[in-house]
Amino acid sequence: MNIAVITGASSGMGKEFVKRLFDEKDAVLGAPFDEIWMIARSKDKLSALKESLGNTRTRVLPLDLTDTASIEALSTLLSVEKPAIRLLINCAGMGKSGKFSKQTASDTHNAIALNCDALSCVTRTCLPYMTGLSGKRSGTIINIASSAGFLPQPGFAVYAASKSYVISFSRALREELKKENISVTCVCPGPVDTDFIKVSRNDPNATFTGIKAKFVTTTDKLIPASIKAAKKGKGMLVFGLGQKALHLASKILPTSWILFFERGSV
Ligand SMILES: NC(=O)c1ccc[n+]([C@@H]2O[C@H](COP(=O)([O-])OP(=O)(O)OC[C@H]3O[C@@H](n4cnc5c(N)ncnc54)[C@H](OP(=O)(O)O)[C@@H]3O)[C@@H](O)[C@H]2O)c1
Repeated sequence: MNIAVITGASSGMGKEFVKRLFDEKDAVLGAPFDEIWMIARSKDKLSALKESLGNTRTRVLPLDLTDTASIEALSTLLSVEKPAIRLLINCAGMGKSGKFSKQTASDTHNAIALNCDALSCVTRTCLPYMTGLSGKRSGTIINIASSAGFLPQPGFAVYAASKSYVISFSRALREELKKENISVTCVCPGPVDTDFIKVSRNDPNATFTGIKAKFVTTTDKLIPASIKAAKKGKGMLVFGLGQKALHLASKILPTSWILFFERGSV
């Protein structure tokens, strides 16, 4: 059984990936998929997505990825079903905005546990089922990082640091997995119009403000571009001109200058 595993599938980018990949045909991604395994905590949202796709070829896996028992449950399921995982998309992620000193211990823990630990553990759990598969490519991994990972971000310190981890991890993993014919693409978007900002600010009406508001993109632009980059086997997709400029600035400007420009964002 050829499958795609998508975390964070109940909302935003992950949900858009499910919808776009449901009828994917490109063999380089290992498509067509017999099933897409959709992971998130919200069983109701995942079930609604499954229903909207005709209750076929998707599997609802309501798991809290910050709980090690969930990783064990995924591992057990894989060992029983032994699918060929052709595509893994690590999309689940969150971060609380505001000064670090005002964050609760669980705000900090949850962001690191989900963005870094769970992403690595899901990848480790899936890899044995991605290796040694026949075809143009054995497997593909898409990790969703963020342009926040290019720079330290006062006011979003833990989240930005966690996304630096995702970028670094993805780059190293890409090199390690070349011999296995597994491609790793790291996607670095700027602000995207999803529930992310609402979760981040604990406010159901929150929207991006300030300079970030000028660079907001949508999942219907970002996700097709991400799939295209993964098909081409690109190591990194920095999405949008503004984010490309930020990426360049992060490489050529001293960090102290960047932190100076960021003053006032907290
Ligand atoms: N939106 C942006 O501006 C932006 C920009 C750059 C990067 N990103 C990154 O893009 C990725 C997708 O975010 P999004 O914008 O699509 O936000 P979103 O709409 O809030 O989606 C986040 C997803 O993560 C899942 N999730 C959260 N906590 C989880 C947990 N403990 N266990 C399992 N799943 C969990 C959520 O599902 P449940 O709540 O049902 O568990 C949801 O499906 C994240 O990694 C985010 O950091 C977002």
